[in-house]
Amino acid sequence: MSSQIDHVFEETRVFPPSPEFAAAAVAQPDLYSEAAADRDAFWAEQARALHWHKPFTEVLDWSTPPFAKWFADGELNVAYNCLDRHVEAGNGDRVALLWEGEPGDARRITYAELTDEVKRLANVLEGFGVGHGDRVAIYLPMIPEAVAAMLAVARIGAIHSVVFGGFSADSLRSRIDDAGAKVVITADGGYRKGKVSALKPAVDQALGDRGEGEQGTVEHVIVVRRGGNDVDWSADRDVWYHEAVSAASAEHTAQAFPAENPLFILYTSGTTGKPKGILHTSGGYLTQAAYTHKNVFDLRPESDVFWCTADIGWVTGHSYVTYGPLANGATQVMYEGTPDTPHPGRWWEIIQKYGVTIFYTAPTAIRSFMKSGRAIPNQYDLSSIRVLGSVGEPINPEAWIWYREVIGGDSAPIVDTWWQTETGAIMVSPLPGITAAKPGSAQVPLPGISIDVVDDDGSSVGTTGGGLLAITKPWPSMLRGIWGDPERFKETYWEKFEKQGYYFAGDGARLDEDGDLWLLGRVDDVMNVSGHRLSTAEIESALVAHEATAEAAVVGASDETTGQAVVAFVIIKESYLAAHAPEGLAQLLRGWVGEQIGPIARPRDVYIVNELPKTRSGKIMRRLLRDVAEGREVGDTTTLADTAVMSVISAQVK
Ligand code: WT7
Repeated sequence: MSSQIDHVFEETRVFPPSPEFAAAAVAQPDLYSEAAADRDAFWAEQARALHWHKPFTEVLDWSTPPFAKWFADGELNVAYNCLDRHVEAGNGDRVALLWEGEPGDARRITYAELTDEVKRLANVLEGFGVGHGDRVAIYLPMIPEAVAAMLAVARIGAIHSVVFGGFSADSLRSRIDDAGAKVVITADGGYRKGKVSALKPAVDQALGDRGEGEQGTVEHVIVVRRGGNDVDWSADRDVWYHEAVSAASAEHTAQAFPAENPLFILYTSGTTGKPKGILHTSGGYLTQAAYTHKNVFDLRPESDVFWCTADIGWVTGHSYVTYGPLANGATQVMYEGTPDTPHPGRWWEIIQKYGVTIFYTAPTAIRSFMKSGRAIPNQYDLSSIRVLGSVGEPINPEAWIWYREVIGGDSAPIVDTWWQTETGAIMVSPLPGITAAKPGSAQVPLPGISIDVVDDDGSSVGTTGGGLLAITKPWPSMLRGIWGDPERFKETYWEKFEKQGYYFAGDGARLDEDGDLWLLGRVDDVMNVSGHRLSTAEIESALVAHEATAEAAVVGASDETTGQAVVAFVIIKESYLAAHAPEGLAQLLRGWVGEQIGPIARPRDVYIVNELPKTRSGKIMRRLLRDVAEGREVGDTTTLADTAVMSVISAQVK
């Protein structure tokens, strides 16, 4: 078997669904033919699965590209679709959240209970003067209140900006400021790796220290008590969540908002130092989140137990923890902590405890479980699992096979889902009852989605070789812009294939003879570390912000577990070296980046060097640094201003 796995890159086996699975599947082959016959009619039908306070008559308005409008004359309330309508349909007693805290405490929350909580919180927010179009920042651990907070903001037509709890005070501050948030919803702290990790101090720091005349926008901070840790309190600004929510009325009528009402901003790294606030709106986003959640995962809301392991701080958590599952009335597991706390079988124990049937996680997690061996998952009963999903980066065939055999009992179909923060929902994926799966390939665009692999000029490359992934037609959950920066929106995604009007995804891809898509990683200066997007420029600017640093270059080097790892090459200022010992500098700078951006951005390696490889025009040649970081022979150096510099760097790195 192991030699078979070694040769899995030449893997040609396909895994068709079993006849039983295929016959009973939610998505049947006619989904493809319906979408192909009339795209707009197809999406209109998917949208009608939602409740519209005012039905739409228009489907897509693409008259002013790249600014799309979907279902524009319709009106709906996103939170009503995720909550009230299930209660009104008699499903109020169905469990929405099977929440598991890291220390082992647990809560079961029904749709009726979650609806009640969201109505109260909506009243609290309105009491603070938050209304239509206002921004609310959410900085919370993975606790039920995080989902409630998102829905309460949506319910009143305001816009949430969830900031991952692992981001630093600085990152939080720049996101709060960019969005102009009026309220922040946070917690004292949450459990991570067996102890309480505080959050409130980062909020205090993000809101404090304003310079002369620098006016912050935040008026109130709502604090969930979770960690029980001591916190500083600002009496005219801070309120306890539990006090405010229990004092608020549980009556709240969901008002209808236009389909294009903004729903959320989510910041993601781009090719410059400044993260982009990706803007999503309501009707189209919810339509595609619900449609993909149902069809890609073969969801049966009455009987399935869904578990997506993503944090709500990422788009996967937005679409497949909050909006998709709740719009579909599903029951899902939500877990607060890390996969290996307090023991390495924690995830499998949770699957066994709750009888999880659909499990969605990232290749980096699968690879780290592979390293610790199958004996750990084998101790648990995972027989409830019937569909497995993967997201965040290409899944190597070896990990795919392991996932299917060890977690999926050698029978569960795997859906490898390609999408992005910008796409809002899954775009490319096998359908579990239809597609014969190929390990390592994300395979085919979903019904209603149009994708091509093109060259630099936007012409199809067919199956002749690699190219760039382009989305050739607008889709309902597409981003509507970058918050406050329409120019950057056009430049980043639409200029590249302006002639064709295609969306440029930033990913390399290849189509095989069967028309199946293989993703080849980013083609820009964006790294993918553990399925999370990081920008080289952002980490470089954090590094040069340290007093020791004269210059820095960052590359993503391939890493067995995390996919890519951050590797930094740093030149130290002479003046700094004159006054400080060089020992421990690399460690110091690693920690510094962690503080500036967040632990996920902390470089795996920091190499102190004397020079960086530059072209005559002064551009850093990261390709050469990547060769060094990956331990390869250094490639062509002829375009360097000083061709000797790479041998110096290679020697210094050793
Ligand atoms: C980038 C988007 C989508 C939620 C998680 C990441 C890479 C994502 C896959 C996949 C190959 C993938 C791409 C993409 N990516 N899923 N199944 N196969 N690559 O969201 O942070 O917006 O990152 O992740 O490079 O562009 P994100």
